[in-house]
Amino acid sequence: MTETLNQQAMAILQKNDRGGFTIPTARLYPFQWNWDSAFIALGIATYDRERAWQELEMLTDAQADDGMIPHIIFRKDDADYFPGPSIWQTEAAGIPASGISQPPVLASIVRHLVETAPASELARAGSLFESTLRWQRWYFHYRRPEGCPAICTVHPWETGRDNCPDWDIGMRAMAVDPDLPSYKRKDIEHADPSQRPSHEEYDKYITMVKFGRDHNWDQSVIVNNGPFLMADPGLHFIWLRACRDLREIAVWLGKDDVLPEIDSWIEAGIAGAEYFWNDAIQAYCVRDVRSGTFSDGFSNASALCFYADVGSQAQRDHTLEHIRRIAKQTKFGQPSWDPEAARFESQRYWCGPLWCQMNYMISKGLAEQGIPDLAEKMRLDLRHVIELSGFYECFDPISGAGCIGQDFSWTAALWLAWAGYDAPAIQAA
Ligand code: GLC
Repeated sequence: MTETLNQQAMAILQKNDRGGFTIPTARLYPFQWNWDSAFIALGIATYDRERAWQELEMLTDAQADDGMIPHIIFRKDDADYFPGPSIWQTEAAGIPASGISQPPVLASIVRHLVETAPASELARAGSLFESTLRWQRWYFHYRRPEGCPAICTVHPWETGRDNCPDWDIGMRAMAVDPDLPSYKRKDIEHADPSQRPSHEEYDKYITMVKFGRDHNWDQSVIVNNGPFLMADPGLHFIWLRACRDLREIAVWLGKDDVLPEIDSWIEAGIAGAEYFWNDAIQAYCVRDVRSGTFSDGFSNASALCFYADVGSQAQRDHTLEHIRRIAKQTKFGQPSWDPEAARFESQRYWCGPLWCQMNYMISKGLAEQGIPDLAEKMRLDLRHVIELSGFYECFDPISGAGCIGQDFSWTAALWLAWAGYDAPAIQAA
């Protein structure tokens, strides 16, 4: 079975190849997505290293002057998708793109490629290093507003966890722009609407995009005066982990001059993690920056503290208790939202389903922090759910049913790089 699934996974990645970069899945997501491409490179690297580097290079081709790497790189329009380039009305390095970013996993993926690279590939890592450094710096300067020690976002789409109930506080506090032009959603033509975000949520997402566009994508204005500003442990932990991985790459490449700057980010990232600690539920939670209000649910982002290597022993113990409690209620891995929290829905996108890339990072963190049993359970859970349902975008964590997009690139990639292995692919550090 593994052999067949390996073949299927490679076929999906080849089918979704658009000439040097890979789309997440046809029709629903017909462009290059930022963190998707990073995970996709991990999978491609198992059979074609040249193509894996190229995936990342095409991502960094669209790096904006200020260092941001956008969440979607459009290259050319596609009538199947909304909101496309005519709605965002911006570009990065001359390429039509969205005006927000996505979780910065790139440095961590580059580290993985470098660790397994023959010496001849180090030069490629060198040029990606510069782009990655600039992007990490962008997060530090443009997504940590005055007075907030943590990484924030101006749009749920930037976090990659689009309609997670974590965003409800910020979404409720904002109004839909009364001048929002009417629009037609395409996502619900390609996927079951009951598994997608609601219309009310979409109006607010598009209001946020309109605000950015109306302000020429001036990131300072968007952060300071925009409709939405929430701090996200997901972005924060992934960024902090990426800083640690970037530091390793810098050492290998002999770039000692940048170490003090990276060290200052790591120090700030560790201290900033405290901002997310919610005593009420004893976990790292999203926070609305303007009101200081905490989200009240344990999400799969809360579980990334191990991956970032932060927290006191007590904070780690509490987090572990949540992970183990939730694992008893699901059959397959960590869901995107606590099954005991309000608004859990096992098949609605980020309100419950299991997402492979989040489980990969959580598991990696657990393995590194000496919790190998749970780490391996998460890997095998993903393996079993793929064996049961195929390469879906995400999965019902209780029944194992595949949800939303089919023939999904990051699921295929993480099968090849992680879940499909016969022996644990990740060992404790
Ligand atoms: C959805 C997901 C996001 C992902 C994108 C493409 O918007 O929420 O995380 O990057 O699809 O797969």
